[in-house]
Amino acid sequence: MKISGSIEQTLIGKRIVLGVTGSIAAYKAVILLRALLREGACVHVVMTQSATKFVTPLTFEVLSGHPVSTDLFAAQQEMKHLSLPEQADAIVIAPATANCLAKSALGLGDDLLSTMLLTAQCPLIMAPAMDGGMWTHPAVKEHVQTLRARGTVVVDPTMGLLASGQIGQGRLAEEGVILEAVQTALAPRQDWHGQRILVSAGPTQEPIDPVRFISNRSSGKMGYAIAEAAQARGAQVVLVTGPTALSPPRGVEVVSIATAEDMTKALSMRLAWSTVVIMAAAVADFRPKHPLSHKIKKQGPADRALDLERTTDILSFLSAQRTTQLLVGFAAETNDLIAHAKDKLTMKGLDLIVANDVTTAGAGFGSDQNAATLIDRQGSMTELPLMPKRALADAILNHAQALLRARQSNLSPKPANMGRG
Ligand code: PMT
Repeated sequence: MKISGSIEQTLIGKRIVLGVTGSIAAYKAVILLRALLREGACVHVVMTQSATKFVTPLTFEVLSGHPVSTDLFAAQQEMKHLSLPEQADAIVIAPATANCLAKSALGLGDDLLSTMLLTAQCPLIMAPAMDGGMWTHPAVKEHVQTLRARGTVVVDPTMGLLASGQIGQGRLAEEGVILEAVQTALAPRQDWHGQRILVSAGPTQEPIDPVRFISNRSSGKMGYAIAEAAQARGAQVVLVTGPTALSPPRGVEVVSIATAEDMTKALSMRLAWSTVVIMAAAVADFRPKHPLSHKIKKQGPADRALDLERTTDILSFLSAQRTTQLLVGFAAETNDLIAHAKDKLTMKGLDLIVANDVTTAGAGFGSDQNAATLIDRQGSMTELPLMPKRALADAILNHAQALLRARQSNLSPKPANMGRG
């Protein structure tokens, strides 16, 4: 469908999924749809069953020029929960009911729209609308907080006369405000412009002999996601990486290393250049004390012992040398996550630590997702649910950015290094 009258179309070439849920404000989604189309977007509408009680799919179908998807199990809509979000540049849910917010926050997938959200990797914008004081209910507030922490843009409802006749905060935001949120979410963010970030990723390999080494299960995905996210947000990024099977992120300078010692050198050489250091690498804590120059033969004693020595604790080393750099570490834990992470935060003299329980199903080593708690040295703790590593990377950058800003306004001194962790 062609819509005329727009002066500058800001969403040309963008594919947007517009989710409509069961609220009286569903009719306003028609106005939002027209605004998105006016900006040049290609819009596919997905409705929940309850939304169809308020507005017919036909209305959206005629205006958008595409069939409306409503049913997870309809034959002609097979695999739509995968294909629609995969092709979308953004998903906008307007109006989003309290039920829709709750399902999304909890990761429930019992219809097409909620299942789609579980597979989506693109920006998600939710514009809630609800009546009768529901917006201020503690459960709704908690769900909104969870969604925001995960990177969802929640466009607050406005105050005014509600369908029930009450006055309160619950009216769907104006279509112009929702449109602006979509435009902002799709505009490349440059909020890390001017920052120089050193990121470490992957495992290290500590030689036993020329063909054997000690290493770990790190795939590098977490560190690469951070490097990619920081680069996309305008930072200059140097990625110091152990051996991985990943392609180098675009626009990032990659320094390949093998051992903990190589990584120490590569990072300390660039410390003065950097403004932020993020250590996602899984560095070996010990290495063979006497690596052999020849391959150990099978013949000989059946029992052998390997003499190990400590590697340099790179973060403690960098912490002792830094001037104004912000230091972010990770804690990979299998038990007592928070207590161990807090110890590392203090002992290594960090500003922020990303505590991840690597025994969580679907998280940690090798996985595409991770779940973490961000703990900073001011004592703030943010627990984040399981999410794509790229989304976690953005959440870490958001937290680090808040610390940089707070530091600029307080000019707080660097923490004392308390030694090894
Ligand atoms: O690479 P992936 O497959 O995506 O997996 C991601 C991950 C699980 C490796 C990542 O999320 C993670 O937790 N990285 C840190 C792993 C680790 O070594 O944790 P640690 O608790 O042992 O070390 C604490 C911190 O000290 C880490 O930031 C580590 O980089 C750093 N360290 C460790 C040893 C050492 N000799 N020097 C260090 O600086």
